[in-house]
Amino acid sequence: MEEKKKYARTLVTTALPYANGPVHIGHLAGVYVPADIYVRYLRLKGEDVIMIGGSDEHGVPITIKAQKEGVTPQDIVDRYHKIIKDSMAGLGISFDVYGRTTSETHRKTASEFFKKLYDNGEFIEKTSEQFYDEEADQWLADRYITGTCPHCGNEGAYGDQCEACGTSLNATDLINPKSAITGNVPVLKETKHWYMPLDKWEPRLREWILEGHKEWKTNVYGQCKSWLDNGLQPRAVTRDLNWGIPVPIEGAEGKVLYVWFDAPIGYISNTKDLIPNDWEKYWKSDDTRIIHFIGKDNIVFHCLIFPAMLMAEGSYQIPDNVPANEFLNLEGDKISTSRNWAVWLHEYLDDFPGKQDVLRYVLTANAPETKDNDFTWKDFQDRNNNELVAILGNFVNRAIVLTNKYFDGVIPEAHELTDYDRATIDEFKGVKEALSENLETFHFRAALAEAMKLARIGNKYLADTEPWKLAKTDMARVETIMNVALQITANLAIAFEPFLPFSAEKLRKMINMESADWNKLGSIDILKAGDRVEKPVLLFEKIDDETIKIQTDRLERIKQENVLNNFTPKAVAPTVTFDDFQKLDIRVGKVLECEKVKKADKLLKFTIDDGMKGRTIVSGIAKFYNPEDLIGKEVCFIANFPPRKLKGVESQGMILSAEDADGRLVVIGPHGEVRPGVQVG
Ligand code: 2FM
Ligand code: ZN
Repeated sequence: MEEKKKYARTLVTTALPYANGPVHIGHLAGVYVPADIYVRYLRLKGEDVIMIGGSDEHGVPITIKAQKEGVTPQDIVDRYHKIIKDSMAGLGISFDVYGRTTSETHRKTASEFFKKLYDNGEFIEKTSEQFYDEEADQWLADRYITGTCPHCGNEGAYGDQCEACGTSLNATDLINPKSAITGNVPVLKETKHWYMPLDKWEPRLREWILEGHKEWKTNVYGQCKSWLDNGLQPRAVTRDLNWGIPVPIEGAEGKVLYVWFDAPIGYISNTKDLIPNDWEKYWKSDDTRIIHFIGKDNIVFHCLIFPAMLMAEGSYQIPDNVPANEFLNLEGDKISTSRNWAVWLHEYLDDFPGKQDVLRYVLTANAPETKDNDFTWKDFQDRNNNELVAILGNFVNRAIVLTNKYFDGVIPEAHELTDYDRATIDEFKGVKEALSENLETFHFRAALAEAMKLARIGNKYLADTEPWKLAKTDMARVETIMNVALQITANLAIAFEPFLPFSAEKLRKMINMESADWNKLGSIDILKAGDRVEKPVLLFEKIDDETIKIQTDRLERIKQENVLNNFTPKAVAPTVTFDDFQKLDIRVGKVLECEKVKKADKLLKFTIDDGMKGRTIVSGIAKFYNPEDLIGKEVCFIANFPPRKLKGVESQGMILSAEDADGRLVVIGPHGEVRPGVQVG
């Protein structure tokens, strides 16, 4: 392995989520849980580290949300900043500061940053044609404009991206562009903006990443390489918008800094708010290490654009690593805020009180580190029941229960160790190195598996040595076994602290261990014989099917709603003649009897008054109706279909029904009273 650079302190930043909605499990798995594990680990090692978070409160996503709700952008960001901040704290994400990009510190910091680059001639000024909505009297940036994607034909593409094919677009590329505010066709008008000449920084970026950071995650390195190989273009860093930080130069009225210019500077502003006198040490000295935790959609901004801004400014350090994750899906589908297809953190905390660590565990065990992954409630339940309860919880519980039972809670002395004891101890000594190595290289799934291995070792040790059987014959041996088991328990309290801080704390309290110290991990003299442990407290409990069903039912409901909301009628079938139509003999009939067909869960058997001698019709709508509810109703049926047998019943026609977007069938009938047997036409 490459020799590691010496560093004195670490600055960890986490992507600032847009304050236009709550955070969901995708945000957590991608950014906040791994960042928190990493920071907690460094703190346990006694390193100097700060973790910066906060809300991204500017940009078009906020103004669109405000417009939809008829409130101000400030109302929106006030609401979601609070929800996000509180829920992250609820999950134990241990930010040292959680700021906002609408703060005065940030306005000043971002303005000064822009001004310095402007004064140093780092921007290009360009006038270009941009879309404008004359009725709304507003420029149409990015998502304010929709149209047909020139690549895939998707009619709902946005001015900056087509979500159907993933291509990034310019608004002027769209076919049939429309304003998202009024639906009008926008006009093109000239406007002046300031651009960051990324092409100027390309050689330095190329050398810094492609030569200097081959150790970066392959997904991150690969994405950077592909951008660099395609050649970087100048990027506008200002927008015509009335929400954001005003461009701090003359002649720029009505213009604001582009949200992706000001948001990463938010990391700096929030550090200033945290340590007003010391912030520069974390950003400007070369013995500082800067690490950006982000999701994959943010790679270009953190690896190319923000570093280019920092290089242009000149006094800042550029990041050491950007361990971006891929995406987490939910039950097989892409998580989507607009379609409500998500597990929202604040709702999880309400629905599963005291189970923060279960979510942290599942999101880490299944983290999308190298590829997109899927969260399912079944997997959540299985991992809780079969891993947290059955392995970790079970071992800790046994160790504490047995110590209370045999020694009244007093930690016994270890006497002579057997070869088996020594082999066990050797095995868990290796865990520290494996854990550290994985944590240092951002392999959090593998690190968690190593911590779990320690619990498995403990379980196996108790199962193999069976102290409960020796209690009557060899108490000295039981003392040794329980001492070893308790030392493993203490090791678990340290190893799991970064991953499961709530449970690790409960565990520490049970064994009266004041604080966790990473350096002690792997040793067997953490607890002192003669000290006491407390009564056992359950760390985890089983999650039953009923609890899981509430969640899967909720998702099922959302899926149905989405299907209904997104219904678009099918294309009209090829033209037919009136003669064609007249061949079908459609009539009105009255339902005299209706019952389920035996051994066929889809079929209903109707006896219809057709104004003649009556007829039987079998119809596949049993899932959607109670047979009794249809008796007495008038329905339309096709009278001249040839009879056919369905499950042994002869059906003499077909009852007409409409199929709704979700597949539900609704029977068709006349709206006024008519005689059975009359024709429809
Ligand atoms: O993608 C997002 O949600 C952005 N709000 C992330 C910003 S990260 C940083 F630059 F602040
Ligand atoms: Zn497309």
